[in-house]
Amino acid sequence: MGASGLLGSELYYYLNKHNFKCYGSYFKTKKKKLIRINLLNYKKLYIELKKLNPNVIINCVSLTNVDECERNYNKSKNYNIDTSKNLVKVLNKLNKKVHLIHISTDQIYNKKSVNKYSKESEVKISNNYSKTKFLGELAIKKYEHNTILRTNFFGKSKFSRMSFSDYIFNNLRKNKKISLPKNIFFNPLSISLLVKFIKKIIQKKIIGTYNICSDKNLSKYEFGLIIAKKFNLNIDNINGFVSNYKLHRRPLNTSMDNKKIKKIIKIRIPSIKNQLKS
Ligand SMILES: NC(=O)c1ccc[n+]([C@@H]2O[C@H](COP(=O)([O-])OP(=O)(O)OC[C@H]3O[C@@H](n4cnc5c(N)ncnc54)[C@H](OP(=O)(O)O)[C@@H]3O)[C@@H](O)[C@H]2O)c1
Repeated sequence: MGASGLLGSELYYYLNKHNFKCYGSYFKTKKKKLIRINLLNYKKLYIELKKLNPNVIINCVSLTNVDECERNYNKSKNYNIDTSKNLVKVLNKLNKKVHLIHISTDQIYNKKSVNKYSKESEVKISNNYSKTKFLGELAIKKYEHNTILRTNFFGKSKFSRMSFSDYIFNNLRKNKKISLPKNIFFNPLSISLLVKFIKKIIQKKIIGTYNICSDKNLSKYEFGLIIAKKFNLNIDNINGFVSNYKLHRRPLNTSMDNKKIKKIIKIRIPSIKNQLKS
């Protein structure tokens, strides 16, 4: 679900390449080979899922624009909660033990000090995006066979809209100035590693809620500097600023603790710097 989006399109490509019989859905962004499914339309969703009869569903559907969520709570609720509720209602009615993998976000965390990492139980809501994403998770948990993956990711987008790292790279390459916060810390994972984790989660039928991220955090400003240095772009075009929660409504430390998933899946996670290099 959401195969026309940033993560969904990469997953769709990767899983097909690895011999999964994979269907992908879009909603408004029409794309070749994808099926149109609106998760808000219960009747059609039921008919479509009954017909497709999947063993696994990966739900990448979301409204990810934090500012838009802040401006329009109802839209944010529709995209991030009601879609999940409908999906669960259909799956419970179909009663087929489909493995539902739901993608969530690191934005539902916010540790006070920079060197602290949130465990799965340490949720802290900051804004409409984090609130609706968390309530979406609670809706997903009403379906027994669920896996919730809280993550943040970067990498070159091949099929869809720009990623955060694309935004940095594309602007610096055009010699344009960008501003990145020095006091917002996160530990994202490259999309190429994230899709590998998801493949393992499907194969091992792992159920539960997990943080999927890199081991060590860094600030968004440091993240930008690494990209600039790697591609010989002008670091002077990066303006480091101090984000103010009251003004920008962004959590300051969404770094996640990944010990829980690393006990089950043994994938070597290089440093963010090395992931960016490759
Ligand atoms: N992007 C990030 O940096 C980031 C970071 C952390 C976590 N995440 C999480 O990762 C997941 C995927 O994010 P993304 O960046 O790949 O999202 P995205 O690019 O914004 O894609 C969202 C997808 O949802 C689909 N969609 C929206 N409303 C729908 C509806 N009513 N019915 C069916 N499909 C609908 C969209 O379809 P159309 O485009 O065809 O309308 C699109 O395919 C989300 O859960 C997000 O919270 C993302």
